[in-house]
Amino acid sequence: MPESVDRLFVHCRELLPLTEGPPTGSRRGESMQRLDVVEDGAIAVRDGRIVATGTTQDIQGRYESRDVVDLSDYVVMPGFVDCHTHPVFASTREGEFHMRCAGADYMAIAQAGGGILRSVRSVHEATDEHLRQMVRKHYDGFLAHGTTTIEAKSGYGLTTETEVKSLDALGAVACEHPLTVSRTFLGAHEVPPDFRDRRDAYVDLVIEEMMPAVKGKCTSCDVFAEPKVFDRKQSERILRAAIDHGMRLRIHADEIEPMGGAELAVELGADSADHLPRISLAGQDALASSATTAVLLPGTSFYLGKQAHAPARSMIEKGCAVALATDFNPGSCYTQSIPLIITLACVLLHMSVEECVHAVTINPAASLHLDEEIGTLHVGKRADFVALDLPSHRALGYAFGGNPVVMTVKDGEPVVTNVTERGYDTE
Ligand code: NIG
Ligand code: FE
Repeated sequence: MPESVDRLFVHCRELLPLTEGPPTGSRRGESMQRLDVVEDGAIAVRDGRIVATGTTQDIQGRYESRDVVDLSDYVVMPGFVDCHTHPVFASTREGEFHMRCAGADYMAIAQAGGGILRSVRSVHEATDEHLRQMVRKHYDGFLAHGTTTIEAKSGYGLTTETEVKSLDALGAVACEHPLTVSRTFLGAHEVPPDFRDRRDAYVDLVIEEMMPAVKGKCTSCDVFAEPKVFDRKQSERILRAAIDHGMRLRIHADEIEPMGGAELAVELGADSADHLPRISLAGQDALASSATTAVLLPGTSFYLGKQAHAPARSMIEKGCAVALATDFNPGSCYTQSIPLIITLACVLLHMSVEECVHAVTINPAASLHLDEEIGTLHVGKRADFVALDLPSHRALGYAFGGNPVVMTVKDGEPVVTNVTERGYDTE
C-alpha cells in the first residue's frame, strides 16, 4: 500500500534535488560542477518537509495523496537563497541611476550627500506603517522571483532608533510572511553627516549604543569596509565588538578599493566576505582555506558600470566556497532576480550553470547556517522549491530578462503561481 502524504508534485521535466552530495556544507571546486538531474521527477511532501524525491514512477508507486500538482513543463530545483540584500528602505533612487549613466561616479554621489544618505533621510521620515508596507512589497518580490530565504540587512537608519525601527520592520513582516528572513545589523553602512569630522565617535556610537539595542533583533553584524567609509581599523573594532555581543559576522569587503577585507573576514571567522572585485591573491588564498563564504554580487558591478568583477574562476579553482546574491538595494543594484544574477555570473564571472545552481542554493544556505534546513531537497529538509518555465536547467542564465518562475513552493505550499504557456522546442 502506498504511504499517504500531504501533497505530491509530479512529472517535473527536470528535477534538480542537489542530493548528489552531502546534505550540509558548501560545495567547492569540482563538486560545484556535479548535478544530479532527474527526468520526469517528483517530490513527496508532508508537514512542509521533503518525504522523498525520485522519478514520478518511483514516487507514485510508494506514495499517494489527494493533492497532486502536475509540473510537466517545468524545471524544479531548491528555492533560491539570497544571502545579501538590503530590503528595508522607504523610497527609490532612480535619479542617481540616470546620473551614473550620464557619467557620475557612485562614490562621488555618496560623498555629495546622495547615495545611502538619501535613503537614510527617507527611512527617518517614514512611518512604521509605510516602512513595513515597503518591506512587505519587497518580500513579495523575492517570492515572485523564486527566492524562498533571504538575508536582510538594516543600514538605512544610522541612529539607534532608526536601526531598531528597520530591524523591527524586517522581523514583524517576516512573522506574517512565507519568506524566511535572517536579519543582519548594518549600522556601519555609512557615516552620518554630523559625524563626518569625527568618524571614530560614530564607531563608538555603533558599538556602545546601537549594538546593545539591536542584538536580540538580528543574527549577524555587517560593515561597509572601505578605506573611505570604515577603514580597516574601524571595521575591525566594530566586528570584534559584534563578536562580544554574540553576533556572527558578514562583511562588505574589497568592493571599490582594495583593503584586505577578505583577509580580515577570515581572521575574524566571518560567515561571509561579500562583493570582492578588488580582492588580493592573498585574500583568495585566505578564503580558500577557511570556512568563510565568498559572496559574489555581479549585479552590483554590472549596474554601477564597473569593468572590474570578482575573480570567480580563480576563487573556485583555489577551492573557495562561492555564493551568488542580488545585493538588492535602492542604489547600487535594484533587482530581486536570482535568475538575472545567474546570467551575469555566467557572462561576466565565467561561471558554469552548474556552479551557479550551487551558488544560489546550498552555498548561501551554508553561509547563513541554514543548510540543515534548506539549500537542497534532501529528505527531512523544508519543502522549499521553485518551478521554472525553462526547456532544461541549462537554459538558466541563457534565457534572460523575463521571470522564468511559474511556481514558488514554501514549506510545501505553492505560495506563488504564475503559469503561462510559453513552450519550448529543446535542442
Ligand atoms: O552593497 N555598499 C554599500 N551598500 C550597498 C549599496 C547601498 C546603496 O547604495 O544604497 C551595496 O552595494
Ligand atoms: Fe550590500
